[in-house]
This record gives sequence, C-alpha cells and structure tokens, in this order.
Amino acid sequence: MAVTGLGVVARVAGKPALVEEISVGDPGPGEVLVRIRASGVCHTDLHVKLGTWDGFPFLLGHEGAGIVEKVGPGVTRPAVGDSVILAWRAPCGECRFCLAGQPHLCAASLNAEKRLRGADGAVLNPVLGIGTFCTHTVVAARQAVPIPAELPPEQMSLIGCGVMTGVGAVFYSAGVKPGSSVAVFGCGGVGTSVIQGARLARATTIIGVDVDPRKLRWAEELGATHVVDAREVDPIARIKDITGGHGVNYSFEAIGKPETLLQALWCRDLAGTCVLIGVPGPGPVLNLPLQQFFDLGGSLRVSWYGDCLPTRDFPMLAEWYRTGQLKLDPVVTRTITLNDTEEAFAAMQRGETLRSVIRIPDA
Ligand SMILES: NC(=O)c1ccc[n+]([C@@H]2O[C@H](COP(=O)([O-])OP(=O)(O)OC[C@H]3O[C@@H](n4cnc5c(N)ncnc54)[C@H](O)[C@@H]3O)[C@@H](O)[C@H]2O)c1
Ligand SMILES: [Zn+2]
Ligand SMILES: [Zn+2]
Repeated sequence: MAVTGLGVVARVAGKPALVEEISVGDPGPGEVLVRIRASGVCHTDLHVKLGTWDGFPFLLGHEGAGIVEKVGPGVTRPAVGDSVILAWRAPCGECRFCLAGQPHLCAASLNAEKRLRGADGAVLNPVLGIGTFCTHTVVAARQAVPIPAELPPEQMSLIGCGVMTGVGAVFYSAGVKPGSSVAVFGCGGVGTSVIQGARLARATTIIGVDVDPRKLRWAEELGATHVVDAREVDPIARIKDITGGHGVNYSFEAIGKPETLLQALWCRDLAGTCVLIGVPGPGPVLNLPLQQFFDLGGSLRVSWYGDCLPTRDFPMLAEWYRTGQLKLDPVVTRTITLNDTEEAFAAMQRGETLRSVIRIPDA
C-alpha cells in the first residue's frame, strides 16, 4: 500500500520549491522503500531548481541517509531496518562500461521506477534518480548502501554526494600522490571535501581558493595549508608564489565557471592534472588558447561523482569518519527541517553554509 509522506517539490524553474504531501508507492522487484533521516543540500539541487535540467516536477535532493522500511520482491540486500546511504550511481553490470570493467562510468545506472506522486497526482522526477528532500523515497536496492547503524545520519548523508565527489576526485579522478601540491577552486561542500581528500592522500601543499573569507576559514580547518582570497589577489600568481614559481601538480575546479576553470588550468605546473567537478549548466563556453594549453602538457578531465563505486567507497568513508580521519562534523553547518529548504538555498548563495542538512524526525 502506498505511504503518504512529505517532499520538497520544484514545479517551475526558478520558482520556490515547497513542501507538499507526496504519495510513495510500494517498492517493485529489485527496489526498496527508504525512510529518509537526513539529507544534505548540495548546490546541484539549486541548479535543478533554477532549471539546468529538463524534467519538472522534480522531487529535490540527492544526498541522503535513512533506514530501509520495505523491500520489493527478490531483494536480499539491503534488509528491512538497515541504515543506508543513497547513491545516485548503482552500476547495472551490463552496459558497455560495466562489461569493460569500468562500472564507475556505468551508462545505465540502476534506478527504481518512478513511484512518487505529488499532491496533484503528477508523477515526480526524483533528482538524480533518488530524491531525498522527503520523508520516504523508493530507490533501486543497489542504490541503498548499508553502513553501521550507530553513525549519525546528518554526517552520513553528506557521503552520498558532496563528500564522496570531492574525496573521490582526489583518489580516483586525479590519483593525487603523496608529497604533491594541490589547488582547489571553490571551497564549498565539494571543494572542502577535495581538500580533505588531498590531506588524506598526503599532499603536502593544499591551496584553497574562494571569494568568501568564511569558506577560507573552513578550508583551513579541514586541511588547507594555504588559502587564497580570489577577490584580493590574482589566484594564479599567488599559487605560483606558494609553489616556488612552478604551479601545482593537481588543480580542481568545484564551482562550474569558465573563468575559474581557466585559473585552474593556468595554475598548474608542467604536466599537471586539472579536474573539473563544478556543474556548468547550459550557457558557459571555454575560450582556450590551444598553444598555451599544449605547451603546459598534462590533462584536463571531468569527474562525475569522484569516479566512485558507492558500494566500495561509502563504507570506507563512513569508517574514516568513525576513526576521526574524515571530518564531517564541521561540514554540517546547520541542521534544518524540510520547510527550511528555500532558506537553505538562500544561505548557500550568501555563502553562510558548507552544508545545511535537513533532518527528518525519526518516526
Ligand atoms: N561532478 C559531480 O559529480 C558533482 C557532484 C556534486 C556537486 N557538483 C557541483 O560542484 C559545484 C560545487 O558544489 P557545492 O555544493 O560545493 O557548492 P557551494 O555553493 O557549497 O560551493 C561553491 C563555492 O564556490 C565559491 N565561488 C564562487 N565563485 C567563485 C570564484 N569566482 N572564485 C572562487 N570561488 C568561488 C563560493 O564562494 C562557494 O564557496 C556545483 O557546481 C555542484 O553542482 C558536481
Ligand atoms: Zn552499467
Ligand atoms: Zn550533489
């Protein structure tokens, strides 16, 4: 029988996303119904609300943790009662990438059928196939990755997108080596996770760049050895100064703008790696002088979800949190309710938060 719950629905691009009653259908074969306990507010939800992707009405949220409440036919794992983090990629095992041994690039990620409806009966499109700004959602069983029950849902929810993306970009997309130098453009929830990843990978120079002094303070707290306020100095010149005139071995763009991607490209040492994480949306165009790009060598690559494998990596990051190596408490800037989602987007735009985390009271 369908469950009645609450969810934050974006119906029209650019308009406020409001809480409404939603109907959550039973999980089908290979699916599970999850009661959400916490959900981080990632910048990508703001992009979706503003109209970056087609597919309205959206059920917002894609960074969540909860408890499995029902399992559909044939599901053996996870089990009812398991604590889980939801993954927006669950490799299908059958597409050309999975068959070639690259499941982190899966082109047909498993999703549940669309089983959620809004107050007017319209079928909702859950963001990135999961939808977590809600009390209940239905996902493919393999999108619900079990973690130890005693870990706090607020911090665990962040592993579902921003933290995994940032840490994964360091380990898997860039392959940061011990003793190397790293620059991170944009020190929000994702960028500070790149900084933490670089610290865990034993990079020795970790430079955080942002235009907001609050973000730079958090960057230092989470592992940046140097910070650069891009409103006050030219970040490329400053990064060259810090690295003996050479530039960094690895740079990461965690904003999604051409101007900061160019800064990330030109602050590299010879043969350095630049990783684009920020979502640019439909407009921006990169004007790249090809000779300069060629002469510097190295690579520019895009990282989706930090090239992670959630079933391998979520429990690992949860364990790093438990043992104090991955600091997630300072990333939870605010704990809010579903009704505060619009204010959380505004706070994000004002630069007041690393992450607002929606906490759904336990039933
Ligand atoms: N590739 C992926 O799989 C993936 C996953 C999650 C998020 N994202 C994207 O990553 C980006 C960051 O997400 P977030 O949740 O950390 O956002 P956020 O809003 O928390 O952080 C963005 C940061 O960029 C800073 N910034 C803005 N303009 C700047 C400039 N010109 N120079 C330096 N800093 C600047 C802001 O002050 C802010 O601190 C977004 O575009 C988001 O959609 C991508
Ligand atoms: Zn696949
Ligand atoms: Zn996200």
